[in-house]
Amino acid sequence: MKRKTMGAAFYSFMLSLFYQEIPIAAYTLTQSQSIIDGQTLISKGATFELGFFSPSNSKDRYLGIWYKQVSVQTLVWVANRDSPLNDTSGALKIGSIGNIVILNSTQSVIWSSNMSNAVENPIVELLDSGNLVLRDVKDGDYKSYLWQSFDYPGDTLLPGMKLGWNLKTGRNTYMSSWRNSDDPSQGDYTLAMDLTKYPELVIRNGSSKYYRSGPWNGLQFSGAPDLASNRIFKYEIVHNADEVYYIYHVIDQSVTLRIVLTQTSTEGRLQHLIWVNDAQIWRVVTSIPKDRCDDYAPCGAYSTCEAMSQPFCQCLKGFKPKSPQAWNATDWSQGCERKTPTNCSQGEGFLKFSGVKVPDTTGTWVNMSMDLEECRVICLRNCSCVAYTNADISNGGSGCVTWFMDLTDIRNMDEDGAGQDLYVRMAASELVSETKSGTKKHVVVIVSSTVVAGIIVLGLGSWCIWSIWKKRSLKGDHGKDDLELPIFDLATVKSATDNFAEANKLGEGGFGPVYKHKNLVKLLGFCMQGEEKMLVYEYMPNKSLDSFIFGLFLIRHIGYMSPEYAVDGHFSVKSDVFSFGVLLLEIISGKRNRGFFHPDHELNLLGHGWKLWSEDRSMELVDESMDNSCLAQEILRYIHIGLLCVQKGADQRPTMSSVVLMLSSETVVLPKPLPPGFYFERSTPIKDNLSYSNKESYVSYDSTISLVEGR
Ligand SMILES: *[C@@H]1O[C@H](CO)[C@@H](O)[C@H](O)[C@H]1NC(C)=O
Ligand SMILES: *[C@@H]1O[C@H](CO)[C@@H](O)[C@H](O)[C@H]1NC(C)=O
Ligand SMILES: *[C@@H]1O[C@H](CO)[C@@H](O)[C@H](O)[C@H]1NC(C)=O
Ligand SMILES: *[C@@H]1O[C@H](CO)[C@@H](O)[C@H](O)[C@H]1NC(C)=O
Ligand SMILES: *[C@@H]1O[C@H](CO)[C@@H](O)[C@H](O)[C@H]1NC(C)=O
Ligand SMILES: *[C@@H]1O[C@H](CO)[C@@H](O)[C@H](O)[C@H]1NC(C)=O
Ligand SMILES: *[C@@H]1O[C@H](CO)[C@@H](O)[C@H](O)[C@H]1NC(C)=O
Ligand SMILES: *[C@@H]1O[C@H](CO)[C@@H](O)[C@H](O)[C@H]1NC(C)=O
Repeated sequence: MKRKTMGAAFYSFMLSLFYQEIPIAAYTLTQSQSIIDGQTLISKGATFELGFFSPSNSKDRYLGIWYKQVSVQTLVWVANRDSPLNDTSGALKIGSIGNIVILNSTQSVIWSSNMSNAVENPIVELLDSGNLVLRDVKDGDYKSYLWQSFDYPGDTLLPGMKLGWNLKTGRNTYMSSWRNSDDPSQGDYTLAMDLTKYPELVIRNGSSKYYRSGPWNGLQFSGAPDLASNRIFKYEIVHNADEVYYIYHVIDQSVTLRIVLTQTSTEGRLQHLIWVNDAQIWRVVTSIPKDRCDDYAPCGAYSTCEAMSQPFCQCLKGFKPKSPQAWNATDWSQGCERKTPTNCSQGEGFLKFSGVKVPDTTGTWVNMSMDLEECRVICLRNCSCVAYTNADISNGGSGCVTWFMDLTDIRNMDEDGAGQDLYVRMAASELVSETKSGTKKHVVVIVSSTVVAGIIVLGLGSWCIWSIWKKRSLKGDHGKDDLELPIFDLATVKSATDNFAEANKLGEGGFGPVYKHKNLVKLLGFCMQGEEKMLVYEYMPNKSLDSFIFGLFLIRHIGYMSPEYAVDGHFSVKSDVFSFGVLLLEIISGKRNRGFFHPDHELNLLGHGWKLWSEDRSMELVDESMDNSCLAQEILRYIHIGLLCVQKGADQRPTMSSVVLMLSSETVVLPKPLPPGFYFERSTPIKDNLSYSNKESYVSYDSTISLVEGR
């Protein structure tokens, strides 16, 4: 169809010129002019054209904007999409209050631009960007439009259009599909910026989420690397006090590019199309969704979708299918649930998932000034916080975003080399099994309630001991008075030691560095964070043990005194080994040495353990409820090592460093253990008025202890 290109006022004038084709292209319309069906406005640079049209298989008439230079008529905007004209009698004018109106043959307004204030000298202009704008002639500032079509997109997002929110007016600028290629009325699909604290683009089918881009993370949308800048176009997310929007610009101005949201295309719901002039076709350069993992939450809560995997839905580590039957039958909709429920009062940590599209951001909380560690702390402190990560991953990461709802629509982005880290809250026991195959480094920390007293780093490979110990302390098997170990936040320990500062390091013991350190009294609890495992001790000021700390591990107030210590107050490196052995056997048996009772004999736990070992029945020492993730041979080895540590004579016991070696290397041959030393049960608490000699490894005390013969 050939269209006359002129303003209405010129119409009769042109007729008088005997239909001469003159290159007059009106790009403005004033109050005295109108555009009737058959006439058009053309932008100054002849990029876009505005006029009445009918979609291919329809007789309805609409006012729209299309590319002037593209041979296939391609609409980028439709004014009266929901109120078509049924004939060619429509006209575009400036209305009485200065707004833009479309009139039908009976001069009724079938569409109008919304105006808040009347304008004295309005003028309508079609810009080369494809934007139809209304402004005041008097207004020198050409940018201050009273109304613009870019604020009311249809199915097309042109370069320079903002998709998002004007936070001042509350106006949401979003795209909506055509019902079908013959019907530009609003279809089922919309693409909008979801105004959460951590905004993301969401395609909806009706009111249901159909696709989410993932939030903007400083480099790209977390789940849509395709929407990132490239050779052809660059894009931005603008987020300030007034606005939050997505916008893109074409780098090479000769490229004709559009983004379209379709309802009916089989080539993807959201397409980037480029006009290929040689072939005279639109070529789809990217389309979304690109695979089944792009669908919204195809795997339910707490799962990841990995398009290339079989099955493509996987529960996150530490989670299991809510309905194993449904999951088995490839019905993923119910998603996954925790293997171990979290319980804030029982200690928790976070497990890191890398290279993911972060979950749905509904209900998230964001603070752009926090770093990742502050973020972790704030999430850990709030029991309803399920996950956290950096809000912005550019330049090494900054900002904090936390989640409070079930985590849905996570996908693995590894195949795109995109994605980011997500830290998900886990019960501490899940974190222990997580480190099963992890490093062999454990850290023992000695801290005060306020100040860190010291840290000993152990090269302990015995993850399974930690997991059992953890379970014990969770169950409170050690009773109310002690060893019901609370869990400490790594951040607390870190800050107390000034991030394990070299300045706080006192020296290197037989089994690792020892940090700033005054006195050890009581095992307060432990801290577990990923690969780091620490014992946390109470701090007692003014009782320096600096001179002999290197051997110090566990001494008193917790019932692990070595015979030589209990009898003559002599403390040595080997006393600490004894304490460790008792602890090891307690952990494995699930029973405390103090108050141990067996119906068949009067031995204490150490004696009982040694008896079983001599009778080749060591496994009977093991608590039935013990974590079955520990191998029997591993357990037997720990019992064996424990018994070596508690041998009666201090010189018979291995040094702590050989204990560490025995624990971490299965190839070290263990000698036969000799009978254990006496066990001293404390009947009354030892008073704290201890006097320590700084120069010698002696401790004297004035407490009442009762001696209990071991065997
Ligand atoms: C257009 O609609 C009007 C009002 O419903 C009707 O009177 C007229 O006949 C219709 N014209 C055509 C061409 O269908
Ligand atoms: C013009 O629009 C008015 C209001 O929508 C409608 O009542 C009238 O029938 C229309 N006239 C024609 C000829 O379509
Ligand atoms: C005009 O404003 C009304 C009420 O605020 C709204 O329902 C309508 O969609 C607006 N129309 C356009 C074209 O923005
Ligand atoms: C869109 O929603 C409708 C109505 O809920 C549904 O029938 C249709 O299957 C959905 N389409 C897709 C592609 O999910
Ligand atoms: C899952 O399916 C397999 C065979 O397809 C079957 O052996 C297994 O028992 C099923 N598991 C559950 C939990 O239904
Ligand atoms: C959490 O643990 C505490 C004891 O450690 C227990 O009293 C409480 O009932 C637990 N809460 C839940 C929800 O399991
Ligand atoms: C954001 O974090 C910073 C740094 O921790 C803090 O000073 C500020 O108060 C926080 N803002 C809000 C709104 O929580
Ligand atoms: C946890 O965070 C949520 C969301 O910010 C907040 O509503 C709730 O009050 C917080 N709870 C605590 C105990 O701070």
